Amino acid sequence: MNKKLFVLLSVLVVASLALSACGVKGGDQVEVFSWWTGGGEAAGLEAMIKVFKAEYPDIEFVNAAVAGGAGTNARAVLATRLQAGDPPDSWQGHAGQELIGTYVAGKQIEPLNDLYTSEGWMDVMPGTLIPLISDGGNIYSVPVNIHRANVLWYNPAVLEANGVSVPTTMDEWFAAMDTLQAAGITPLALGEQWTKMHLMETVLLGSLGADAYNGLWDGSTDWASAEVKAALDNYAKVLTYTNTDSASLSWQDASQLVINGDAAFNVMGDWAEGYFRELGKTPETDYGWAPTPGSVGVFQFLSDSFVLAVGAPDPEAATAWLKIAGSKAGQEAFNPVKGSICARTDCDKTLFGVYLQSAMDDWASNTVVGSLTHGVVANDSWKSEIDTALGLYIQGGDVAAFQAALVAACASSGACK
Ligand code: GAL
Repeated sequence: MNKKLFVLLSVLVVASLALSACGVKGGDQVEVFSWWTGGGEAAGLEAMIKVFKAEYPDIEFVNAAVAGGAGTNARAVLATRLQAGDPPDSWQGHAGQELIGTYVAGKQIEPLNDLYTSEGWMDVMPGTLIPLISDGGNIYSVPVNIHRANVLWYNPAVLEANGVSVPTTMDEWFAAMDTLQAAGITPLALGEQWTKMHLMETVLLGSLGADAYNGLWDGSTDWASAEVKAALDNYAKVLTYTNTDSASLSWQDASQLVINGDAAFNVMGDWAEGYFRELGKTPETDYGWAPTPGSVGVFQFLSDSFVLAVGAPDPEAATAWLKIAGSKAGQEAFNPVKGSICARTDCDKTLFGVYLQSAMDDWASNTVVGSLTHGVVANDSWKSEIDTALGLYIQGGDVAAFQAALVAACASSGACK
């Protein structure tokens, strides 16, 4: 080797050693997969990305979000990528059966116990949540929030103009919707199919009560019973008060009907509040809220969390992202915009608006049950059987056949023997 080349190579080796000793590696990036692209949702994610970039300026954040509420499209894309051995570094998954029954069961995500220890998260993550993200002594995700599913949003001016007060029971709700319908107002705004499942789970809860609702998922409530039949009849009746173009509306479109005064009610998770705020609307004036009828004192929850992929292309960058997702600063930036409350128990309450402050009080004091549509109570295969049955029911309107299909879905899930 000639002398010049030797000197040049030596300089390069020393330089690269020096760089890696300082931890400066070129090309670090983290690909984070979610379905937060739409109104209210993208802004929340952006707020957390900002915290990430401030803390880790050398890591490129690749936002791999795929559009579509509740992750209906995104999760199909994710499944294809996982099957092809091409995982994003980190993705959004719901605490509960979606996480444990799908990604953990499929050995697709890594345990994060060390991170929980190093970040002190055991002291600040709620005790109710840890079992829902754990399996065999390992913790598998980092929850960023708590959302409430059972929220009845309403237009205060429309209710007032029609002499309707906020219903607390199913019967009061039906009476209110009769009045509104007679006045030529769409009583209940509804959107595409997953929002129909979301509506269904809240009607099941409101009709059955918390204990019997929980029993649907552990086999102690009989799906073939008369009480479930009555709940499904309620659901059938609720659907008669909805707009006819629901199949073509996103959740944002449907909730906007309420804000615009084109409909009186909408049942949607509290991400709707993030959207209303993004639209510049004022709580209690432009929109009001209450627990869905029959569910006063019950908080039907879900939690978005982020995971570390088995075979993540850049596990270190992914870990940096997870640290922000679990941090106080990350959660305080994300949640007030997203319309959710922190998963952490130590966030500053004054950063949140009046709706979210009321959600915090309810989360702390209500009976807590899990959401079906958003991954808590049933794994993906059970949920997709319910979804198929629901789709057929929406087309055909046969409650008895729907109930029989739900009985069969529980049996094939293994929860009902
Ligand atoms: C849920 C998710 C929420 C919100 C909603 C609508 O599944 O947990 O964060 O994004 O879908 O897209």
